Amino acid sequence: MKITPLLLLAGGLCVGTYCQTPEPAAVPEAKLSWVDENDPALAELRQAGERTVDRIGGMMLNEVRRIVAAKGLEEATETVHLRSLEVPTPVPGKPRIVAIKRTSLRLRNPANAPDAADLAALEYFKKELGDGNRPPSSLMQRIETPGHPVEYRVYKPVAAMPDCLLCHGNKDSQLPGVQQSLERQFPEDKAVNYSEYDWRGMIRVTVAPP
Ligand code: HEC
Repeated sequence: MKITPLLLLAGGLCVGTYCQTPEPAAVPEAKLSWVDENDPALAELRQAGERTVDRIGGMMLNEVRRIVAAKGLEEATETVHLRSLEVPTPVPGKPRIVAIKRTSLRLRNPANAPDAADLAALEYFKKELGDGNRPPSSLMQRIETPGHPVEYRVYKPVAAMPDCLLCHGNKDSQLPGVQQSLERQFPEDKAVNYSEYDWRGMIRVTVAPP
């Protein structure tokens, strides 16, 4: 599937609670475009991004299983997800991963709130799902901001797998200790009541050329 719409991010792209306070003088105009999935010039960056996202997804699942088994569910709510994860050390000659993020349209942690470009990816994906289309397995953006190097982002969707529902499933059937811990840490939590294999959000990495 080809996707090449062009969006302007400054102003305009501000949806619901994700609007950021406008700072007309400080925010330069960013131009967002979608990278064609078959663009050979960016294939290496895209693949590096996809591989890293896949690895992070696997790490999230392993970490959940490991911590729940070792410490129990309640304590796990204080520890997940990958809170000390850092960007991988660059390898000379290879694309660099310069940022990692997890985000969603239904947030638990406000620190994971999408910025305008993240939101464009989330909304795009949501629309494809809503229209009954098979969404692409990844999305890649090129963001041009005057005075900054071009930024490339790769996004992949993440599903609510059975293990994930322990903390993101039906709120009423959560263990009382889990419910209390989540409410205490995240009073605005919207990341509950997912069902198995629902689309939970996106893992995103920012990739830069070697
Ligand atoms: C032990 C409880 C627990 C389990 C199990 C769990 N999560 Fe989470 N999840 C959390 C907590 C706590 C946060 C907020 C902390 C953070 O930012 O990582 C969170 C945040 C997230 C976020 C970031 C967006 C947001 O809403 O803040 C995503 C995406 C996510 N979880 C996906 C998953 C997936 C996929 C699984 C299954 C592999 C999973 N979670 C399993 C507790 C859990």
